Amino acid sequence: MTDLTTLEAELSASIAGAADAAAIEAIRVAALGKSGSISGLLKTLGSMSPDERREAGPAINGLRDRVAALLADRKAALEAAELDARLAAETLDLTLPAPPRRKGSVHPTMQVMEEMTTIFAEMGFQVAEGPDIEDDFHNFTALNFPEKHPAREMHDTFFFNPGLDGVRKLLRTHTSPVQVRAMQRTNQPPAAPWIAGAIEPPIRIIVPGRTYRCDSDATHTPMFHQMEGLVIDKGIHMGHLKWTLETFIARFFEVAGVVSRFRPHHFPFTEPSAEMDIGCDRSGGEVKIGTGDDWLEILGCGMVHPNVLRQCGIDPDVYQGFAFGLGIDRLGMLKYGMPDLRDMFESDTRWLSHYGFSAFAAPNPATGLS
Ligand code: PHE
Repeated sequence: MTDLTTLEAELSASIAGAADAAAIEAIRVAALGKSGSISGLLKTLGSMSPDERREAGPAINGLRDRVAALLADRKAALEAAELDARLAAETLDLTLPAPPRRKGSVHPTMQVMEEMTTIFAEMGFQVAEGPDIEDDFHNFTALNFPEKHPAREMHDTFFFNPGLDGVRKLLRTHTSPVQVRAMQRTNQPPAAPWIAGAIEPPIRIIVPGRTYRCDSDATHTPMFHQMEGLVIDKGIHMGHLKWTLETFIARFFEVAGVVSRFRPHHFPFTEPSAEMDIGCDRSGGEVKIGTGDDWLEILGCGMVHPNVLRQCGIDPDVYQGFAFGLGIDRLGMLKYGMPDLRDMFESDTRWLSHYGFSAFAAPNPATGLS
């Protein structure tokens, strides 16, 4: 009996000290398993005399039942403690601020468009807009492109199928058709005063917008952005054009000044026409504006052709004007160092979050560039 008392004391102590379910199981196997200590004692009952068995039987069975109950209690207590710990650890603190939500960003093209608009606005230009879907007249004819002239093909135009009226529309290949729309607006007869913004020369407008050409490589995408500039007044000459563009470029690239050169070129709607190059430095692998003795082609420009003025009802003997067309995306790539134009319109969120701008950094005509 003392053996049973000692065994019970030992087992009770180790059950009380068991730290987890695995320890409980080990004790259970050692005591009640096939070759466990209590199981061993129960096996001895068979070889006892009836008298011995009458005494030992209830003692050993009682021990087995008490140990089984202790094991079950301890197991339940451990499981309850484990659950309590998990509940405590997994508590949701609803007072914590929510994790920051990924914010959208301002696309570099939009940022650059606003920077450019801001600079030109400071110089007294108004913003004009026109439709992306144009007709032949505004995109070509009114701009002095002769009928059937190969220059129309030069632009790799996207044409729509002719409509029911037989008119073939197109996606504008440049922002120049808005020159025509703006100048024609200035000549609305007094009978049409409801046409908003009926302005007389002097005209000073810029036209930011989408343009389309069937073309795609590292520096061309089928859709891209241009900013047209148009100035019409009395006594306007190339000197005004040169000053305006040099001032704009220096301000845009945030350098003290730029040098420029004008290479003769041909556009049907300007005479003379030129391509403007600006001085740059390419020695360091990247293009630096405002220093160096290399040249970078930046835009097309010229004096508005008298035929265009006449077409729009403006007397070329009284008014002259200059016009220019800048590639917005390209200027952005130069300023912010994006290597491939096609990436601009892939909508890859990694690219957008890397090159995009905070909406709070948007430049505006009142506060200047950010
Ligand atoms: N529209 C011309 C182009 O897209 C650029 C340009 C605009 C040239 C205005 C002269 C004057 O190539």
